[in-house]
Order: sequence, then C-alpha cells, then structure tokens
Amino acid sequence: MSARKKTQVTWGGRFQAGPAKLMLSFGESVSFDYRLWAQDIRGSKAHAQMLAKVGILTSAECKAILKGLDVIAREISQGKFKWQQELEDVHMNIESALTKKVPAAAKLHTARSRNDQVATDVRLWLKDQCQAVDDALAGLLKTLVNLAQSNADVILPGYTHLQRAQPVSVAHHLLAYVEMFSRDQRRFHQVYQSANWCPLGSGAIAGTTLPIQREMTAKLLGFVDERGRPQVTSNSMDAVADRDPATEFCFAAALCGVHLSRLAEDMVLWSSAEFGFARMPDAFSTGSSLMPQKRNPDSMELLRGKAARFQAALVHLLSLTKGLPLTYNRDLQDDKPALFDAADQLLLSLAVATATLSGTKFHKDKCLAAAADPALLATDLADWLVKKGMPFRHAHHAVGRLVALAEKLGVPLNQLSDAQALQADKLFTSGWRDVFNLQRAFAAREKSGMPGPKTVAKQIALWKKRLK
Ligand code: ARG
Repeated sequence: MSARKKTQVTWGGRFQAGPAKLMLSFGESVSFDYRLWAQDIRGSKAHAQMLAKVGILTSAECKAILKGLDVIAREISQGKFKWQQELEDVHMNIESALTKKVPAAAKLHTARSRNDQVATDVRLWLKDQCQAVDDALAGLLKTLVNLAQSNADVILPGYTHLQRAQPVSVAHHLLAYVEMFSRDQRRFHQVYQSANWCPLGSGAIAGTTLPIQREMTAKLLGFVDERGRPQVTSNSMDAVADRDPATEFCFAAALCGVHLSRLAEDMVLWSSAEFGFARMPDAFSTGSSLMPQKRNPDSMELLRGKAARFQAALVHLLSLTKGLPLTYNRDLQDDKPALFDAADQLLLSLAVATATLSGTKFHKDKCLAAAADPALLATDLADWLVKKGMPFRHAHHAVGRLVALAEKLGVPLNQLSDAQALQADKLFTSGWRDVFNLQRAFAAREKSGMPGPKTVAKQIALWKKRLK
C-alpha cells in the first residue's frame, strides 16, 4: 500500500515509484492551466450527460457527478479550491477532487483522454476569448468613429516617408484605423469558427471502442454551426495534435498588435512638441521622476511595445508545433503560457487604446498650420496641368521646376509671380494659383475611398450604422 501510495494517483498503475519532485515541478501545468477550470467543468458535464445517455453512467451517477462539478466550480470561483501540483494539471485536479466527493466520478474519464480533453478546453476558451476581443474591438471602433466625427473639419498633413505629403482630415486618418481594426474583428470571427469544432471523443489518439455519441457532446458544448447542427472534428489524430486555432488566435493578436502599435506611433508623434497636433488625456500620460515639465505618452509607447509580445506568442506556437510527429506530445502543454499572455495583453491593450483615444483632443490650428504649406498641393497643380492636356510625367517635371524655383527664392510655392511660373512652363497660364485652396482641393476628392468631406461623412455614417 505504501509503495503504491507513492505512485501517481491517476496513471500510476504500472509504476513502482512516483515521479521525482523535480519532475513534478518541471512537468506540472496547473500553475497556469488552472485558468481553464470553467471550460474543463463544462466539458466534463457534457461528457457525463452523454455517458448517461449511452448507458455508461446511470442517471443517479450522472446527477451526482453534475452536482459535484457544480460544487467544485463554486469552490474554485470562491478561491476555496486547493490546487495540487502533484496532480499535474487542471484536468486531474478537478477529477481527483470530484472522485473524493462522488465515487462514480471514477467512471467520468471513460472514453476520454486528457489529449482530447485539453484540446476541447482550449477550443472552448478560445471561443470565449474571441468574443471578448470582439467586444473590445467594437468599443475601440466606436471610439475612433466618434473621434473622427467630432474632428471632421480638422485638416492636417498626411505623411509618406514621414515627410509631409498631401493634406487629409483627421477623420480620414482615423478611419484608416477603423478599417484595420474592423479587419481584425473579421479575423477573430474566423478564429472563432476554426475553434468551433469539438474534439471530444478522439480519445488519446484513436477514439474509443465504447458506444459514445460525439454529436450530443458537441451540441451540449455549443460546438454548432449557424443552424444549430453539431460540428465534430473529423480525424482523431489531427484533433489531438492540432494547435491551429491557438496559433491562428496568436496571429490575429499579432496583426492587431501591429495595428495598435502603428496607431500608438502616430499618437506619439502627434503629441510631441514638434508636431503638436494632439493632446492625450492626463490619465493616460505620465511624468518624469526628474524633469518636472515632462508629459510622456507612456500608454502609447507601452502599446507599441506590446506588439512584440504578441509576435513572440505567435512565433512560440509556430516553433512549438514545427516538426512535432503526430500526434500528442507533451511539448504541446507549453502552448498555454504564450497563448494566455497574448489574450490577456490584447484585451488590456484594446482597453487602454480605447480609453486614451476617448480623451484625446486635437489642436485644430496647429494641424491646419502644418497642412497649409502650399507645396502639399503640388500634385494637385500637376493634375491641373494634366487637365490642360499635358502628360502627367511632364506635368510632374514642370511642377518640380516650380518647386525648385520657390525653394531657391525662399517663397511659398503660390507666391511665385505669374512670370516666374511661365518661366517654368508655358502652360502655367493664369488661374494656376487657384489650385492652392484647401477647400477646393478637398472638394475635388469626393470619389470613393478619398478624403473629400462628403465622402468621409458618408463613411462615418456607414460605420455608425454598422457599429450600432
Ligand atoms: N496538461 C496536458 C497539456 O496541457 C494535458 C494533456 C496531457 N496528456 C498526456 N498524455 N500527458 O497538454
């Protein structure tokens, strides 16, 4: 008895001695996978109901198991549950606690392996996370659209190569991020769909000889299509080896992180004295311990930094599964710390981005002053020549000569005299200077996808309707 006691409680039958202390602490995952407890209990409840349906559990046994699992769920949520490292993971901790309360729980692991169990738990968890991310993205999108609307008349330079390029509106600029984050939203919907297939019943690798009903378990757990039909995985070997949904989640997080970090960088630039376009709220700025005048955009810098973490999670998942032989290998246990971290940090990041933006104010005058340089409409002047029949390549050169002349003389482009303009090209006849009118320049950009104020207003209205 004493020798047996030392062996592992759940799988120790064929062992003479239990695992070394070092092996226990090396191999345990309960310190991080305890987070799957709610999904694990949901999975066990569905599995027990199915086992009762096919006659493996009596209905009294099933009832006792369901009740016992509810008690454990309550203990865990109240912080009263004692997690034990020697029981390795969340699955065995819950099963062993249940068996102590309900003897019939010894039958619960019938036709189930931790391999299909953990795959199921993670898929359930991923579906929950995708929904949480979806809500967070919806909040960010609404904030961006509102900010665009309240700054619809603010004009600022748009940049390429971080050099002033052409004037745009703050609204058009912010709506670019709306496009990115709505693509992220779509991507997380796709991850949800990838996760929405039930692996339970795949067993350790090759299913089971017992008469289980996979579709019933899938249905009970909500692994269903839009018409409520159960979705079960189609290959038991793939089902226990597959970590695609987790990897896809990390990819979606990594790309969303890239979008957040680009937004963050724009905010860092805009809130610097050099740009002076925007002011972030006090609550999301920080000071310096040494320089009393400092007001730093730390929330945005941290957002920019988090992007690295999401990418690390993605690389982690890809490297972990690369070259792994089929099917389950213990390496796979280590998918969780990275996956959990990516989800936690993404939800935090989206909340911070939303809160910071909702308190951000634009300095209309500074934005306009920066956009007022007539050189930003040099392309419009080339277009003006095109309308007069000049091929664009020649027009580009002609305007280039004019820009060079203005630069040499140290005057704004539209301050050159008509004679000087004619000197650059004979097509610069009267009226060339009318191009330098921001209102006209914007009014000429009312084709779809462009920054014309009516087009942008339509986009804002469209997004408001979509995001309701
Ligand atoms: N804790 C394990 C994991 O997360 C559960 C599966 C263990 N399976 C096994 N055959 N050892 O991957």
